[in-house]
Amino acid sequence: MEGAKIEQRPHVVMVPLPVQGHIKPFLCLAQLLSQAGLYVTFVNSHYNHKRFANLSALSLQFPNLNFKSISDGIPDDDQPRDILSYAFFHGMKFAGRAHLKQLIGTLGRRSELPPVTCVIGDGNISFPVEVAEELGIPVFSFCGHSAHFLLAFLCIPKLIEDGQLPYEDGNMDHEVNGVDGLEGVILNTIDELEAPCITPITNSCGRSYTIGPLHALLNSQIGHRSQLIASHGSIWKTQHSCMTWLDSQPSRSVLYVSFGSIVKTSTSQLLELWKGLVDSGYAFLWVVRLDMLKEDDEEHHGVPEELQMGPQERGYIVDWAPQEEVLNHDAVGGFLTHGGWNSILESILAGIPMISWPQFGDQRINSECIRKVWRIGVELEAFDRWTIQKTISTFMETSRREELQRSVDMVAKWARDSVGHGGSSYNNFEVLVEDIKKISK
Ligand code: UDX
Repeated sequence: MEGAKIEQRPHVVMVPLPVQGHIKPFLCLAQLLSQAGLYVTFVNSHYNHKRFANLSALSLQFPNLNFKSISDGIPDDDQPRDILSYAFFHGMKFAGRAHLKQLIGTLGRRSELPPVTCVIGDGNISFPVEVAEELGIPVFSFCGHSAHFLLAFLCIPKLIEDGQLPYEDGNMDHEVNGVDGLEGVILNTIDELEAPCITPITNSCGRSYTIGPLHALLNSQIGHRSQLIASHGSIWKTQHSCMTWLDSQPSRSVLYVSFGSIVKTSTSQLLELWKGLVDSGYAFLWVVRLDMLKEDDEEHHGVPEELQMGPQERGYIVDWAPQEEVLNHDAVGGFLTHGGWNSILESILAGIPMISWPQFGDQRINSECIRKVWRIGVELEAFDRWTIQKTISTFMETSRREELQRSVDMVAKWARDSVGHGGSSYNNFEVLVEDIKKISK
């Protein structure tokens, strides 16, 4: 990375929403852009930067990326952030905007770095786009959810205009980017999977780049099997011991249960799920994060004792799993998921049918797609032990799973083909790189 050579390279500043489900695909994209010869500065919140540093040095995990951090508006202590709160989003917007502007200014004064020529901001936060526009730097929006969800979002102004949504002055106080002024929208999806949504999105946004699944594109470009590389980028301490337990389980016999990095539950919901899992008679590997319980839950006394168990004959509970490795393990036959977009893409790639339990945001639309559009899973209709037990038993029963398996195999093939040489995501990524190079001249 010697000075004279670096000066010629486009310099991309990437700003994800500071949550696991957004940081991970952003990191995959950052590595891909770096591999393609671009200089990449990756901006974390101070809080997440510290979490990464506590696990291992970022410079060792990602030697080609330049890491920087900005405030998320909360004093820099160890308090977990409630990413779903209005207060957090607004605090982050206020602090993030000022700090990002200052950071880009500082990067511009560093003579050993190429000047910043492009910003890629998370589509769920508006300040990276606003800062880039103020500084006159071309900006792309990265969409960490499905094209179906983005299209639904893009329809909102028309629904308001038609009086279908109750915002009389047509003004919504939202935090999601508009699309005006963008160079284009980058989508972590596959043309073949969401074809009907891509054309209307492109019509609204000018240009769209469908380059997913990013973890698979990254792995195919660097010649690794999926689980080896993309699992990097976790801000949680991963418990690899569950892999040894999975080794002892028969093929396709285990249900993997995980609700991503933000979903919270009440104590009684956790206990209902536990009963349902145990009563189903199937083996399970379950992620119960340490921050999984709602703080305002009256029964909140920490994770119940019953659930603080290591490996048992039929169940294993961990607080963070190496999810991609788990999904690719031969013992896993199904995934009970909240329907986060990364979890869905990872499950599709691994060829694992799903039971969805959607909670908020994009998860409801994702769940509908799983069930009705792609037919690669079923939905949990209620969260009591009987419904859970019955849904799991029916789902894991061989003939039902075989039916879902056929669809998931087809979708998995689209995903694998799209990231291989000449596939749609592979080609679209090359176009993205060329477009960034053009605007950087
Ligand atoms: C958030 C939103 O909640 C989701 O709706 C949106 O689609 C993306 O952003 P999150 O809830 O964390 O994401 O879910 P998901 O998108 O599934 O991402 C979770 C990531 O954490 C996945 O990449 C998964 O592999 C990883 N993970 C999860 C682990 O590595 N280990 C675990 O134990 C659990």
